Amino acid sequence: MSTSIEAFQTMVNERNPRFFDPVPFVQKDIDRIYNQEQVTVGMPMGAEIILNALSREHTVAIVGAQLGDEGKGRIVDNKLEQILSIPGMQMAYVVRFQGGSNAGHTVYTPEGRKIPLHQVPSSINEDRAVGIMDSGMVVHMEDLKTEIEDGEAIVGDLRNRLYLSEEAKLVTDLERAEEVINRFKSSGKSGGGTGRGISPTYANDLSRLGTHVKDLMAENWREVYAARYDRYAKEFAVHNYDIATMQVPDLRETRDQKKAVTRNLGSKEEFLDRLDGVRGWYIERDATQPDKPSMIQNTFLMHQEMYNNLNAGVLFEGAQAVGLHHAIGRLPDVTSSDTSINGIAAGTKLWKAQDIREKIGVMKLTYMSSVGSVHMATDLMLPRKAITDESGLTGAQKFGAWVREEAHEYGTTTGRPRDICLLDLEMMRYNIRMGGIEMLAGTHLDIAREDMPIKVCTHYVDSTGQRVAYQPGVEHQENLTPMYEDLPGWDGAAAQKARTFDELPDNAKKFLAFVQAQTSTPITAVTNGPHRDQLVDIPRWELPPKQFQGTDRTL
Ligand code: IMP
Repeated sequence: MSTSIEAFQTMVNERNPRFFDPVPFVQKDIDRIYNQEQVTVGMPMGAEIILNALSREHTVAIVGAQLGDEGKGRIVDNKLEQILSIPGMQMAYVVRFQGGSNAGHTVYTPEGRKIPLHQVPSSINEDRAVGIMDSGMVVHMEDLKTEIEDGEAIVGDLRNRLYLSEEAKLVTDLERAEEVINRFKSSGKSGGGTGRGISPTYANDLSRLGTHVKDLMAENWREVYAARYDRYAKEFAVHNYDIATMQVPDLRETRDQKKAVTRNLGSKEEFLDRLDGVRGWYIERDATQPDKPSMIQNTFLMHQEMYNNLNAGVLFEGAQAVGLHHAIGRLPDVTSSDTSINGIAAGTKLWKAQDIREKIGVMKLTYMSSVGSVHMATDLMLPRKAITDESGLTGAQKFGAWVREEAHEYGTTTGRPRDICLLDLEMMRYNIRMGGIEMLAGTHLDIAREDMPIKVCTHYVDSTGQRVAYQPGVEHQENLTPMYEDLPGWDGAAAQKARTFDELPDNAKKFLAFVQAQTSTPITAVTNGPHRDQLVDIPRWELPPKQFQGTDRTL
């Protein structure tokens, strides 16, 4: 046991040297893994002792370690299944603590039916799971109604399995229109938001100008929102916008037509009637079971109970990613919330990061994807439309074009092609450190080919060849050159068949060992396809691990 702890300490101790100067480790890791065949992946056994002493058992936080769309929803779904299978475990909670309908999470039912989720937590596959949309979220009640109706059509009744904090920040069509005005006010520089009203709602909350779910459910709601409409109408008129004809997203139509569809915000009466309709829907829904708690709750009180019920697992589901964090993301095109594990504190008002046993960052393994207005340093700069002619593309771009089709890298809601970037380990090290991430779950291990190397960026240099550290903000990525290593690819179809680590193709194992070494962070699970069972859980290893030889314990 003591040697396991020693290995864990080595890993932790090497985190900072690798973070502040990764260059000496690149060839060392390649040599150790690819030449000496020392392939170490996963968490050492003794590490648990340290983690367990500090945290509440059966707690997991899952956040994006890159730029969003890493596959968090299905990792939550997999973790949930695992937690519920622990003997004696009665139920589990899945808590969304930030973001809103800007998120797009996809989970599949055991029968393979796809469920696209935006505001509802990825808990809905499990009867014994309860989803909580907590106070840190920004919630649009009409979109939520659509999502609940769609979800119930697939998984059945969600009453008593889904709760919404009365203190969640309310997004209405006014905040969505405000996002349009902000874009205009900043001459388009305010960033390529999703148009779902996320940034104005968080900004209004900080300025104490926002409203909350409980304001809509209060008796005097009509007065409050009528006054709000009048105020917004005046402000919009200053910029020559007529509030009634301003365009806001229509999620139901967007979903049906697979492209962004908008509608008029409408007159004051129309705006209030819409709110009245949706408000009434929630009230009636509660009225169908008067003896049960309302869906709209004081979730703070629920957390108190949850913490102390050790027969319940608790999963915290992040939206977006550390790379989109309002302060430490790829500014200026970021979202407006704390997307890191530290965001759980403000988003739940009760849990702190140290309470949580498994702090998982989700990453795409063989590439990264990005949406938005900016390009990252390792972006392959593929056209932002479907590629019909590959003749002018470089080798790496051909890999990217193949990835886009193979992994279907098109937006869940709008069908827009995503930008494809090469894996950026330099950014990953930063996001792991600052995002509070302690282990990694890798997705898309099947997106690889034997005939194409996988290019990964290990660090950046300036024009004199000096290493430049990743600094959040795309302006800091200008004039630097990403340094790449070509790592051998593998047969994606063979990787897809594996259900255990041993069954993975050799080069896939080595690739994982390299990513683990370079990030000093254990990879504890990988997925090799979109469905629930396409998961390889990497077992804890006892020293000396099976594949581990020699005296170099560097992870
Ligand atoms: P906002 O969150 O709507 O303000 O959008 C800010 C930026 O974050 C935009 O570039 C969005 O495309 C991006 N973004 C927001 N949510 C997600 C997500 O769930 N996945 C990927 N990108 C996202």
